[in-house]
Amino acid sequence: MLIAMDGPAASGKGTLAKNLAAHYGLAHLDTGSLYRAVARDLMAAGKPLDDEEAAVDVTRSLDPDTLSDPGLRTPEVGQAAAKVAKIGAVREALHKFQRTFASKPGGAIIEGRDIGTVVCPDADVKIYVEASTDVRAERRHKELLEAGHDISYDEIHAQIAARDEADRSRKISPLKPAEDALLLDTSDLGIEAAFEAAIKLVDTKLLQR
Ligand code: C5P
Repeated sequence: MLIAMDGPAASGKGTLAKNLAAHYGLAHLDTGSLYRAVARDLMAAGKPLDDEEAAVDVTRSLDPDTLSDPGLRTPEVGQAAAKVAKIGAVREALHKFQRTFASKPGGAIIEGRDIGTVVCPDADVKIYVEASTDVRAERRHKELLEAGHDISYDEIHAQIAARDEADRSRKISPLKPAEDALLLDTSDLGIEAAFEAAIKLVDTKLLQR
């Protein structure tokens, strides 16, 4: 089974995807970490974020073992990731990696912004996870405070709104629900309730096939 999960920043899709992967025994790929890793490596090389040639070089030499680096989770890297994510050649190279992952024999759940629309349009189940900007900012703020970052709620709110706008308005692979995506609004749902609602969506969809 292949599950494609998309949604904006801090919508809860990361935790949801991890939990669904464990529940259904699927491999899990957080594609945001790929774009974040490209941004991190580009900044480490001292290159500007719109240097397409350098970005492609960095993408080609990306080390998948570094994708769980906690340094990728900072707001700065998130914003930088949204900039490199506009480069078509970077997306193409990362799409290849994602499609290879999607064809794993045991099945997979892949989360990002363009999985149901562009990367895996034939996924068995597509879920688009939403939540209000206020709720997403609260969640991300709490997460960052717990991780020791000193940042205000207002700053996070503004960053999330700006990243949404960049992701939704870009020309290539913009953030949007696939036409056949099942919508899940987690604004009023805790982790457990969101997980249960997602299982219900997946199981119902599988019964209809
Ligand atoms: O999901 P996460 O916040 O880690 O993603 C960081 C950035 O990477 C997003 O804001 C987006 O610009 C980009 N991204 C993307 N396509 C994906 C996943 C992430 O453009 N499939």
